[in-house]
Amino acid sequence: MTDLELITLAQQARGYAYADYSGFPVGAALLGRSGRVFTGCNVENAAYPLTTCAERAAVIKAVSEGEREFEAIAVVTATGATPCGSCRQILREFAGPDGELRVIVADLDGNSSTFTIKELLPHGFTPDQLT
Ligand code: THU
Repeated sequence: MTDLELITLAQQARGYAYADYSGFPVGAALLGRSGRVFTGCNVENAAYPLTTCAERAAVIKAVSEGEREFEAIAVVTATGATPCGSCRQILREFAGPDGELRVIVADLDGNSSTFTIKELLPHGFTPDQLT
């Protein structure tokens, strides 16, 4: 699975976004260590705070199907936006001890940037801090 293929899957998932309130559809594609890909889109609600982000939808799908370790996530928006703070924390949980999960953000014009989750969430709260 190349980064470009992952971006394409995220772009397809963006097409399913339920985002009429914000008008800002987001698609995500999360690559598990097994090679499986889990897609997600944002799902909004008339009660606005109940919205689920695309990244979180992908993580919830993956973990609830038994995948807990990930290599990369691609996120596609019109503007190439980076994940919100809450999604960074959700992704950090499943990024391994070193936080090396790659986060690829892309827009609709073929522009993309890649970060590690550790770069996007430095000094984040990690499971080992509970012990
Ligand atoms: N959104 C995401 O899906 N992921 C993010 O990381 C940032 C924001 C969604 C939530 C809402 O449906 C819309 O984008 C505008 O905030």
